[in-house]
Amino acid sequence: MTALEETATATVLLLSGPNLNMLGERQPEIYGTSTLADHVKHASVSAGRFGLVVEHHQSQHEGDLVELIQGARGRAAAIIINPGALTHYAWSLHDALAAFDGPIIELHLSNPESREPWRRTSVVAPVATGCISGLGGVGYRLAIEAVADLLGRGDG
Ligand code: DQA
Repeated sequence: MTALEETATATVLLLSGPNLNMLGERQPEIYGTSTLADHVKHASVSAGRFGLVVEHHQSQHEGDLVELIQGARGRAAAIIINPGALTHYAWSLHDALAAFDGPIIELHLSNPESREPWRRTSVVAPVATGCISGLGGVGYRLAIEAVADLLGRGDG
């Protein structure tokens, strides 16, 4: 790695699916009281420690997320995605993510495995490098740390 590559910042695309704009108000007993803006801020602060820059988008629409994932090819170093309910059935997200070269972290605030049976299927999991779930907002920091490590920028 050259000195320039070592110091250059890299973009991490952070994607949030449907209803995550409601965090803070939406079922706080499950998703907590922090807002999506709070989580993005924490992720961005953590990212700064590793020379990473977070670019965040939230959408209620599957096609928007597909376009954002396609647009990340050759531009973003990694993707962290909480697809919301799309996790469980949006095969177009699976296919778009499969065409992305870098690390992909699937992120959930709750633990879908311990909830309703329909949440136990993730169509994103087969193309994700790893999954962080059930840890609430801490998951955003852990996802950044995982990405930093996978990109060779971690604490070691
Ligand atoms: C979620 C879990 C999904 O099952 C749910 O549909 C969401 C949020 C989570 O972060 O725990 O919208 O992705």
